Amino acid sequence: MLLAAIETSCDETSVAVVRDGLILSSVVSSQIKLHSEYGGVVPELATREHLRNLLPVALEAFQRANIQTADLNAVAATQGPGLPPALVIGFQAGQALAYSLDLPFIGINHHEAHLYSPWIRDGRAALDSFEPNISLIVSGGHTMLVHVRDELEHVVLGSTVDDAAGECFDKTAKLLGLPYPGGPEIDRLAQSGNPRAHDFPRPMIKDAHDDFSFSGLKTSVRYFLRDHPQTLGSDQSIRDVCSSVQSAIVDVLVQKTLRAARRVGVKCITASGGVTCNSALRTELQRACAKHNLKLLLAEPKLCTDNAGMIGILAERKLQRGDSATEITADIRASWMLG
Ligand code: KG4
Ligand code: ZN
Repeated sequence: MLLAAIETSCDETSVAVVRDGLILSSVVSSQIKLHSEYGGVVPELATREHLRNLLPVALEAFQRANIQTADLNAVAATQGPGLPPALVIGFQAGQALAYSLDLPFIGINHHEAHLYSPWIRDGRAALDSFEPNISLIVSGGHTMLVHVRDELEHVVLGSTVDDAAGECFDKTAKLLGLPYPGGPEIDRLAQSGNPRAHDFPRPMIKDAHDDFSFSGLKTSVRYFLRDHPQTLGSDQSIRDVCSSVQSAIVDVLVQKTLRAARRVGVKCITASGGVTCNSALRTELQRACAKHNLKLLLAEPKLCTDNAGMIGILAERKLQRGDSATEITADIRASWMLG
């Protein structure tokens, strides 16, 4: 099957071409530079950029894959969740492309695509080696623990009750005067900081449930900076705060993920979403899984942040197993939660 996939749920415009479980091309145009001027994603600007970039990105994806649209067998697009004015652009473009070529169209849940992205190795879906797992999805807007019982069969065990882990990185970075998005910046500065310099709280780390809460951690950093304003005047002090905050976030994510895996009785852990780029999270998950004899699959860094490749791989898998196509007149589902 030859399938084109479109992703425009937030601030990345992306189009991919997938054939029989292989990503032939995946072009991503990021708007990070544009939004960083404003310290966060501005919906109107995101919409304008998606409109401006979608066609050139699509043409480049088709060219790199060396295909014509007439060769396509199906079209997919992210249906939700995400920013409504951003989602609607890719989704309706996908519907229009499918309609004009008389092809099946399928709307994909963005989180479900993240969920299966660790199974993509070197651009190829490795779902044949699938095994039941506990999956950690950590992005800018969501933090979730999911029990994946079987391929395309999963249940959400817990999620954040307030800020997501990525949001906590971004908001803390803002307090420290660092550019948006804060996650990569904190990751970089934390490398030369002391993770034990400050004992920031690890919210809900010992709780028996699988939910997360990160807003208290962000608030404690705010109070710390209010009470120690000299911190912002020293590069090393900023690095120490970065390292200590990162260590608190990573401790919570790793401990809760491992505990869920032990409780549920799976032998495999997977992780995906933008925060899975974080070097400390990758290292600590590797260390913990090695210690407890668990298999670990981390999404490849280029598949952690938003991309249409993961949308295409999931869409093709769904169509191949006989899932019904999405109505050509269907609307976006901006608040579509993973079941
Ligand atoms: O999955 P994603 O690209 O977009 C959403 O679907 O939200 O995730 C973006 C989030 C941002 O909060 C960003 O700061 C965070 O991922 N992020 C990181 C790193 N790289 C990206 N957080 C910590 N360390 C990183 N290296
Ligand atoms: Zn995402």
